[in-house]
Amino acid sequence: MSTGPGPINLFEFEALAKGLLPKEEYDYIAGGATDEISVERNRRAFESIALRPRVLTDVSHPDLSTTVLGKKVSFPVLIAPCGGHKKAHPDGEQATYRAAADCGTIFAVSANSSIVFEDLAKVATGRLWLQLYPFQDRELTKIWLGRAKDAGYEALCITLDSQWPPKRERNIRNNYKRTRAINYLVSGPGENPDKEASRGREGGGNPAATWKDLEWIKSQTDLPVVAKGIMTGDDVALCAEIGIDAVIVSNHGGRHLDNTLATIEVLPEAIDAAKGRIEVLLDGGIRRGADVVKALALGAKAVFIGRPLFWGLAVDGQQGVARVLNILREEMEITMAKCGRPTVASIDSTVIAKLPPLP
Ligand SMILES: Cc1cc2nc3c(=O)[nH]c(=O)nc-3n(C[C@H](O)[C@H](O)[C@H](O)COP(=O)(O)O)c2cc1C
Repeated sequence: MSTGPGPINLFEFEALAKGLLPKEEYDYIAGGATDEISVERNRRAFESIALRPRVLTDVSHPDLSTTVLGKKVSFPVLIAPCGGHKKAHPDGEQATYRAAADCGTIFAVSANSSIVFEDLAKVATGRLWLQLYPFQDRELTKIWLGRAKDAGYEALCITLDSQWPPKRERNIRNNYKRTRAINYLVSGPGENPDKEASRGREGGGNPAATWKDLEWIKSQTDLPVVAKGIMTGDDVALCAEIGIDAVIVSNHGGRHLDNTLATIEVLPEAIDAAKGRIEVLLDGGIRRGADVVKALALGAKAVFIGRPLFWGLAVDGQQGVARVLNILREEMEITMAKCGRPTVASIDSTVIAKLPPLP
């Protein structure tokens, strides 16, 4: 029996998970589009930012709590919407949900979750968001908006970067087949499940979607709407103009378009464009507590993790995800203390040295 401490950081979680998962599942989760330049750049950009330590500030009572969409979270690391948690552990989204709720943070449930999203909400006490796409069929979108509201979801996350399918070479090589998305097989009021199932095949890919569709979604719901997959200030400004509540600066973890900037590189332009009108969140490459502090220093309200939740699940289900979150919390606390920042509100742009251009 092992007597070691187990994985002590997110990279060790990934290494362990890699040994536990079937190769094609590991590759599906870890991989990105074409040359995976953006996957790597998300990390490299974080690594290139230096911190500026400060001394002699009272940091004896660190407080990592903040608000997202006006409500409290215990720390600014949220769970990104990711399909199919059962790929990594039989308890799937239930395990992730419990870990997130215990940690006092938000779980964004994917349209492609491996459990029906209403079933998850039935047992939920914590904060849940539902992610969906601007489906080609507005009736289907309307049904989903109603289902989310009825089930008690507190916000909608609309993923906008998936209109066109990506080229993921690991999946092509492994002849990887994605499993069927269960949420599309559930019918809304007055709906015929067969009809819904056939509509569901369109998945995230609606190449014809435009800003009018996002504006229309916003007009059809009283839940806050979060736009995910934004990578330019121009698109942040458009989101703000149509009354979107928050944006997630995200390149989908480098899984859709390769050769983009890292998300942390885009953050300053996103913050400028937001002009305080809209909350700016970020995901992509968060692996250390210091990364969270860097993102907050550049103006993000909070960040999300994607792949690391799968590494936690694969290693130890709910406990694994909880450990992943707690490692980030501990590392964040150390970073804040050593930068003389006892609270999230005290993290400003002077925590980091000037953002250097990446070679
Ligand atoms: C296996 C996997 C499945 C994902 N599924 C979805 C999804 O269904 N919807 C979505 O909006 N984003 C999805 N994403 C993207 C994540 O929400 C997030 O943007 C990304 O993983 C963040 O980067 P990180 O993995 O480096 O933390 C998925 C990511 C992974 C790794």
